[in-house]
Amino acid sequence: MDTFLPERLQEIGDRFRIALANAADEQAIENVRIAFLGRGGEITQARRSIGALPADQRPEAGKVVNEAVVGFEALLAQAGTRVHALLLEAELTHAIDVTFPGTPARTGSIHPLRRTLRDAVAYFRRRGFAVVLGPEIDTTRNNFDALNIPTDHPAREGFDSFYLSPDLLLRPHTSPSQIRTMQAYPPPIAIVAPGKCYRRDAVDARHLYMFHQIEGLLVAPDIHFGHLKGMLTGLCRELFGSQAQVRFRPSFFPFTEPSAEVDVSCPTCKGAQCRTCGGSGWIEIGGSGMVHPNVLLAVGYDSRRISGWAFGIGIERVAMKRYDVNDIRTFVENDPDVLEQLA
Ligand code: PHE
Repeated sequence: MDTFLPERLQEIGDRFRIALANAADEQAIENVRIAFLGRGGEITQARRSIGALPADQRPEAGKVVNEAVVGFEALLAQAGTRVHALLLEAELTHAIDVTFPGTPARTGSIHPLRRTLRDAVAYFRRRGFAVVLGPEIDTTRNNFDALNIPTDHPAREGFDSFYLSPDLLLRPHTSPSQIRTMQAYPPPIAIVAPGKCYRRDAVDARHLYMFHQIEGLLVAPDIHFGHLKGMLTGLCRELFGSQAQVRFRPSFFPFTEPSAEVDVSCPTCKGAQCRTCGGSGWIEIGGSGMVHPNVLLAVGYDSRRISGWAFGIGIERVAMKRYDVNDIRTFVENDPDVLEQLA
């Protein structure tokens, strides 16, 4: 056999090993493979030169070249494994610093509206009131007619409502809970009904088209306005602290007579000039009054034997004051940073 071929392979192999040792990534290894084993590579050229040898030397020469190729391929595979391991190690050491302080998990909190609702409900539960939850979609009868607001009564305009059909609407107040309860149970009745209400109001700093109310209703023999004043004064002191003053301003609701707007002393300025109460020192939080005889009649109660009071309080109004929030939209934006502050 031509002794020149093994020597040449030896020399190519030396260069191959050096080139491979310097290959730092997969692409570099691939370049080495092409340079030595590719179509125009050095080994391929060596194999071509076999054709020039005398016929009896060719088999042996072919065998030597094939063995060299097997060896080269094994080294390529080894280099691949090495580069891969290096890459992984680099990734692990640079991407994960196990000593780096972690990101603390954010703790949730009860939403200010939910807390206000819960506190108001708790106050009445302690006094023996039952909690009822009515549907948010209710009939015109429960929302208006039975509440002494007949069709064409101007008060219906005040409840600018979302209608689903001529007879069904998203309730614009929680007062239909009064009708539902009195229709389902005989007197005496002592309930509160918290929940969502809807009105076609344009959204601004003081209005949302979805908001919350808590309705209260007490119907029994000999109930009078003094009971209402006492109960709502107690509620306001529970919600705003023992210093809170409550004021009842004569007003009109078709379903109560007499009727009164419920104002609470502004806890921010306590009567002095302040932006949120408009400098008046009072904030209106809802409506109230003695249940109108026509309402008692509509549910089949005997208005000569029993009487009652009712109120409806805006939860957002109360929560804005309690948490010193001056834009009602804050409650629906639910920015975690803000909620964390209010928690
Ligand atoms: N339903 C009235 C409203 O939403 C509030 C109210 C309830 C007034 C009960 C009197 C009695 O404006």
